[in-house]
Amino acid sequence: MKTLPIPHTDLVVSRIALGCMQLGGSWDDAALSGSVRSRALRLVSAAVEQGINLFDHADIYTHGKSESVFGEVLQQMPGLRQRMVIQSKCGIRFADTPNTGDPTRYDFSHAHITASVEASLRRLRCDHLDILLLHRPDPLLEPEDVASAFDALQRSGKVRYFGVSNHNAGQIALLQRYLEQPLVINQLELNLLHTQLIDDGVMVNTDAAAYAAASGTLDYCRAQEILIQAWSPLAGGVLIAPPAQASPQVHAAARQVAALADAHGTSREAIVLAWLLRHPAAIQPVVGTTKVDRLLACCQADAVSLSREDWYRLYHAARGIPLP
Ligand SMILES: NC(=O)c1ccc[n+]([C@@H]2O[C@H](COP(=O)([O-])OP(=O)(O)OC[C@H]3O[C@@H](n4cnc5c(N)ncnc54)[C@H](OP(=O)(O)O)[C@@H]3O)[C@@H](O)[C@H]2O)c1
Repeated sequence: MKTLPIPHTDLVVSRIALGCMQLGGSWDDAALSGSVRSRALRLVSAAVEQGINLFDHADIYTHGKSESVFGEVLQQMPGLRQRMVIQSKCGIRFADTPNTGDPTRYDFSHAHITASVEASLRRLRCDHLDILLLHRPDPLLEPEDVASAFDALQRSGKVRYFGVSNHNAGQIALLQRYLEQPLVINQLELNLLHTQLIDDGVMVNTDAAAYAAASGTLDYCRAQEILIQAWSPLAGGVLIAPPAQASPQVHAAARQVAALADAHGTSREAIVLAWLLRHPAAIQPVVGTTKVDRLLACCQADAVSLSREDWYRLYHAARGIPLP
């Protein structure tokens, strides 16, 4: 697997990362089952064998069980932690937590950020996170509070680097103004069926509504050398095997994916991911499958290089409307 350096850090990561959102099984407080444990061991081992070294977590994934089962895998495979880049997120709080009646909310307070990291480290059985991301923008953000939490976490050695997720350019610029540490990652939803970040640039100065909504986030991240990670890079698999009730546009995009997979002698998963990898921003897809065979199909993307024409063929099929 080819690698890429994360700017502003000493980290070198695989082009494709493994997302661990579903690793812990059900989204509840049920105990980890034997089958979830063995599936996690198989999946993480296969990922490492393929050269994947970045593993993406969040405190909330399967109510903490994704981090817990990952921590068990690390314990069973001594020496593995040193070869990995482990990333987690904080800032989303579930309803009824900790008190009945609490609403779903975002929480970028110093107390919540530091408590969340400490709980993640306990579950992961690690002494530090390589990267911590703020999961979703908190409208009640007080940047000084985030800055003091990041300082404390970095000083204590609990977190090496910091980033954000689902943030736009203005939100990143505001936060960065208060932080000592550079924000090194922005993790965003990006796939052939969710192309707003790219449309943003393509549609500038065309339709008034699109122009007004344009945030310039992708270009801002490139200019600031903030690594963009793509979440849901496979659009949940619908371009591989579109459900019968999917829209004509999804079927058309899936047909284009299948045609290019045949032409390149590779998997459909690889074509869907190669569309992201072809972008010059060096976007890192974070794939979320829990199945080893699908992960291997995804990793074939590392060997695929799409031409400009193939990239636009896919973009056209997925957009379903002409370019301006
Ligand atoms: N920052 C954020 O707000 C945010 C939000 C969502 C996700 N994420 C991160 O992004 C990662 C990926 O997200 P995702 O799981 O939504 O994205 P994905 O990789 O686009 O989709 C994976 C999902 O699609 C299913 N799938 C069906 N056919 C597939 C195929 N042929 N190949 C691969 N998967 C197929 C998988 O099920 P099987 O497991 O059965 O294969 C899995 O449920 C997560 O694990 C998480 O780390 C971040």
